[in-house]
Amino acid sequence: MREINASIPFDKILWREDIEGSRAHVAMLARQGIVSAEDAGTIDQGLQQIAAEYERDGVPEDWDLEDIHMTVEARLTEIVGPVAGRLHTARSRNDQVATDFRMWVRTANRRAIAGIEAVLAALVARAEEHAGTIMPGFTHLQTAQPVTLGHHLLAYFEMLMRDRSRFADALARMDECPLGSAALAGTGFDLDRDMTAEALGFAQPTRNSLDAVSDRDFALDYLTAASQCSLHLSRLAEEFIIWASQPFGFVKLPDTLSTGSSIMPQKRNPDAAELVRGHAGRVIGCATSLMITMKGLPLAYSKDMQDDKPPVFEAAGLIDLSLAAMAGMVADSGFDTARMRRAAEAGHATATDLADWLVRQADIPFREAHHITGAAVKLADEQGVALDGLSIGDLKAIDERIDERVFDALSVDASVAARASYGGTAPQRVRQQVAAAKQRLGMED
Ligand code: ARG
Repeated sequence: MREINASIPFDKILWREDIEGSRAHVAMLARQGIVSAEDAGTIDQGLQQIAAEYERDGVPEDWDLEDIHMTVEARLTEIVGPVAGRLHTARSRNDQVATDFRMWVRTANRRAIAGIEAVLAALVARAEEHAGTIMPGFTHLQTAQPVTLGHHLLAYFEMLMRDRSRFADALARMDECPLGSAALAGTGFDLDRDMTAEALGFAQPTRNSLDAVSDRDFALDYLTAASQCSLHLSRLAEEFIIWASQPFGFVKLPDTLSTGSSIMPQKRNPDAAELVRGHAGRVIGCATSLMITMKGLPLAYSKDMQDDKPPVFEAAGLIDLSLAAMAGMVADSGFDTARMRRAAEAGHATATDLADWLVRQADIPFREAHHITGAAVKLADEQGVALDGLSIGDLKAIDERIDERVFDALSVDASVAARASYGGTAPQRVRQQVAAAKQRLGMED
């Protein structure tokens, strides 16, 4: 029983929140005349002493004391004697743990938002630098159309902005304090729940005591936001892994975020990016784990809910690290812009531009233009040249409505410049979006 019951090995991380919650609770009990001011003062002094001890020496792990709540109370009893027993008046470990954990998750949410903002700032800075840098854009990982690197990076800016708003939503929704719900039904003591809610930084107390002690939505909101965020980071990490491979050679990863091989001296492995890609699996696993723990639990508290903490603590560590790694990778990677441009020029990426030109300049229906372009691509392949390497004679032989002006449309520069629709890849549009992104982030331009 002792082994299966103990949560102190993992919930001792909650000691700050537990002590803060207890100090708010005892101050409220004194204000309401439920404990004397003198006893409350003694208890508060004892709690402050414990905080100083834990800060200095760490939290002792005595499995007989089960969890962090009992551990703090036992130490308080050693320090102040039987008056310590008054602290638990009108409270249960059920509302206590719900409050402590919520406060911890709240901080984790804020940390995730700060971590996301660091990646967002790095993305905007690199997008600004590379608003006009040309690279191949892919579908099916096959060269499709030229795009700008700035545009590509800003795609991740959009994803991470949505992640930031998911964490912010989670914060807003969890802004209610369970303390004072007691075991499940509320309490007969005349509490001031607004006072403790305010002292602990919550907008208001929870409205239903049964829900308050058995709700773990706040943890699930955090984990699902973290899941989507880690999913986005894994996609960005995968881009860097592909770009850093020798056949691509688009990027040189920062030394600080890659490793050498023990036997192959030429290698620079993208370990940090691969771990970010891998961590997404674990974060999503943590979210799944808590969903399944909560599924089918009747009201109110059941001990299953003690298992809520390990997945949240694990996911928080992973998402914090992943965000830090990707902020560094985006900020400090070196892009080989010449090589990116050559790759964009190599895959007949401007074939759509030829088809569009035929539609616009020669009034040919798009399907027919597509067909003519296919013939041009085939001929270019046979000659081993890019589309704009074909002679005007060759092009006219395919369709005589083609004239010299077509060459203005076939360069990769013309191609990206032409895609100036709102949200498009044209450098001018990317620069606009960079300016907008800075505003959205509240950065100075
Ligand atoms: N260690 C417990 C948890 O983390 C605290 C709540 C215990 N409540 C109870 N009724 N046994 O869930």
